[in-house]
Amino acid sequence: MKVGIIGAGTMGSGIAQVASTANCQVYLYDAHAAALEKSQEKLAKVMARLVQKGRLSEEKTHQIQENITYVQDLEQLRDAELVIEAIIEHPDIKKQVFQKLEPLLSDSAIIASNTSSLSIASLAASCQHPERFIGIHFFNPAPLMKLVEIIPAVQTARSILDSANKIITSWGKHTVIAKDTPGFIVNRVARPFYGEALRIYDEGIADIPTIDWAMKTIGRFRMGPFELMDFIGNDVNYTVTETVFKAFYFDPRYRPSFTQKRMSEAGYLGRKSGKGYYDYQEGATKPEPTEDSVLGQAIVDRIVAMLINEAADALHFRVASGADIDSAMTKGVNYPKGLLTWADEIGIETCVQRMDELFELYHESRYRCSPLLRKMAASGSRFFSSEKATHHV
Ligand SMILES: NC(=O)c1ccc[n+]([C@@H]2O[C@H](COP(=O)([O-])OP(=O)(O)OC[C@H]3O[C@@H](n4cnc5c(N)ncnc54)[C@H](O)[C@@H]3O)[C@@H](O)[C@H]2O)c1
Repeated sequence: MKVGIIGAGTMGSGIAQVASTANCQVYLYDAHAAALEKSQEKLAKVMARLVQKGRLSEEKTHQIQENITYVQDLEQLRDAELVIEAIIEHPDIKKQVFQKLEPLLSDSAIIASNTSSLSIASLAASCQHPERFIGIHFFNPAPLMKLVEIIPAVQTARSILDSANKIITSWGKHTVIAKDTPGFIVNRVARPFYGEALRIYDEGIADIPTIDWAMKTIGRFRMGPFELMDFIGNDVNYTVTETVFKAFYFDPRYRPSFTQKRMSEAGYLGRKSGKGYYDYQEGATKPEPTEDSVLGQAIVDRIVAMLINEAADALHFRVASGADIDSAMTKGVNYPKGLLTWADEIGIETCVQRMDELFELYHESRYRCSPLLRKMAASGSRFFSSEKATHHV
């Protein structure tokens, strides 16, 4: 199958590798020759490493590289069956590209955007045939992350959703279907992981190494929130939070932290700048956490309660099915378990109680309990099956 990818940056290059590995004929287009060169060189290095490690045969890696044609003329995407756009996050520039692209394609071709923050409906509206437009959201690095969110817009035809889902699944990805709402599933539900950790730090309840220690050792998350923010980059993570906050009409649940804004403004971006919440320069020592198990448990309980509340609210507003919300968080951001499964384990009533205690303390709507959790606690139901009544997931 002929696949077009627009934008040969981080995401476009990764998606091209995924599609070519699945034996598609990939046409990778970028407006800048240097981006295409860099992409080709990077793939060659990745392939050499995979051969070295014995993960792929030399023959297969040649095939993967031969399957990709690097093009600087959009015309060469003519008659592609699927085109995925991954250029800069700018609505007008993306729309211009779609307008140039659409006449080159047959009516049955699928046009997709890998946008993280723009509404799929607004991008679809720039097409003559918006019913063929859909969001296909990969995670970075695309070849390694199993999850792909598929986001139909209000305009998207059911057949396009089914075809897109089938193609991406055939590329070896785990797909989840998300409503066209800010942050889709992962970038919405994950917000408290960072936001509540920052709030705990801002209030002086615990220091950074202690919060990270608690989330890793007691919460069993692979990385602590501050380590992860430093890994993602404080500029990138802050922008996602601010975008979600604005898109939700300033819902205080997503309000960014001044601490993170200042880190970003100062250029303390994390690993990539050598300094963030931690010092990454040579010879730097990592500060020690206070390994207080009572404090640690309180930190985990609070952040996990906020995460569960967010996941429950996403289900309440039908952003996705319960099963998809859970697998999005385990496969997209490697959470130790699905948040709704976790809620069942903790007990829905306990989750409600934790939210109500926070609300009682702060009287901020940031801490309002999702009505779904409250209803479920009242009826004694769970998210996933057991001997008791199960809520529709
Ligand atoms: N980086 C991530 O972690 C991530 C994750 C998921 C989704 N996304 C989304 O993927 C998209 C791309 O992000 P990225 O991080 O790969 O960006 P990037 O800056 O690494 O790459 C963008 C590429 O697009 C090219 N480009 C810019 N304007 C163009 C145009 N008019 N025509 C053709 N090519 C053009 C640039 O030359 C560059 O090579 C964005 O919509 C972003 O929101 C990013």
